[in-house]
Amino acid sequence: MNEADKIRLSKSIVGEQEAEAVRRVIIEDGYLGMGKHVQSFERKIQEYLETKKEVVCVNSGTAAIHLGLAALGLAPDSEVLVQSLTFVATFQAITAAGLKPVACEIVPETCTIDLADAEKRITEKTKVILPVHYASRPGDLDVIYKFAEKHKLRVVEDAAHAFGSIYNNKKIASFGDIICFSFDGIKNITSGEGGAIVTDDGNVLRYIKDARLLGVQKDTEKRYSGQRSWEFDVKNQGFRYHMSNLFAAIGLVQLERLELEFKPKRQVLAKNYFNAFKEIPGVKLFQNDFDAIVPHIFPIRILNSQRDNLRQYLIDCNIECGVHYLPNHLLTYYGAGATKLPATEQIYSELLSIPLHPGISDDQQNYIIEKIKLFFNQN
Ligand SMILES: Cc1ncc(COP(=O)(O)O)c(C=O)c1O
Repeated sequence: MNEADKIRLSKSIVGEQEAEAVRRVIIEDGYLGMGKHVQSFERKIQEYLETKKEVVCVNSGTAAIHLGLAALGLAPDSEVLVQSLTFVATFQAITAAGLKPVACEIVPETCTIDLADAEKRITEKTKVILPVHYASRPGDLDVIYKFAEKHKLRVVEDAAHAFGSIYNNKKIASFGDIICFSFDGIKNITSGEGGAIVTDDGNVLRYIKDARLLGVQKDTEKRYSGQRSWEFDVKNQGFRYHMSNLFAAIGLVQLERLELEFKPKRQVLAKNYFNAFKEIPGVKLFQNDFDAIVPHIFPIRILNSQRDNLRQYLIDCNIECGVHYLPNHLLTYYGAGATKLPATEQIYSELLSIPLHPGISDDQQNYIIEKIKLFFNQN
């Protein structure tokens, strides 16, 4: 295999349809900023989610979490309970909102927040719990929402991985408080870069719609009716976080492709991996209902300190791997390991993600499975 044949860990699955949609915005529309395509993307997402909650698109998942938190108007340094094992974007969004991430343990079987551990970390300043739907699997959201109610916390869901996933027969974001999605290049659907906030909290919606456009009051409504704001007021710090028509045009095509194309392919790939590895003693798999979730990544746990050996072996076989994620409490900005999270650190040392995206062919997946089995036969 040469470099061109390398099996990628993840990939943007875009083609003629997306290119044509972008072409139409450029040639026919000529307006690349935030306008009718963004409005239409928001409506289509709302329809897809089968919810009355409103959808507000922004230019990244990080921006979605930042604004979702900032909208709560909390005192600076209010505390947010969050699992340490998540992409650094989650933590950066919390600190960008002037809040303090309180790094919590995960449940090893699911990699979702360990509520028993989180409960011990509650102080008077704790105002939010931020569950991360790791590898598209939501934690037990019913229990999380009860926990939030008991402790008077708001819930901001990091559903970056979980667009299209289902919990208890309901689509993620069709219920809940404030739910944030990412549409970056490799997510379940992409808009190039992008994200969305879903909520029915009127105050949060008002704040987010203005804050994504530099805090200019009611600019969203103006732009959606083809106008610009010339006389306006600004009452809060705002951000340049709005989505462009170009990105929304890509997102609209991707949304059409999700149910028929991306979702079944991701589910089949994940089921194949699960069945292939479930009997290998050196591997521990996360239990997931692959008919309910739309798997964004496929992390596995490699036991007996073999993770790095397998990782190198797969790289040598031209199979790209990843580690989702380096726990945030170990990063300098987030305390350089001052908080001790032994379960998280143990799982981190075992994690390896193998390729998962709709562009993987049967032959490629068989090759990956064969190589992993061979590794364990030989070690
Ligand atoms: C768990 C998690 N949260 C948040 C984000 C941020 O999303 P974005 O890349 O769109 O800013 C990501 C993206 O990779 C993610 O994986």
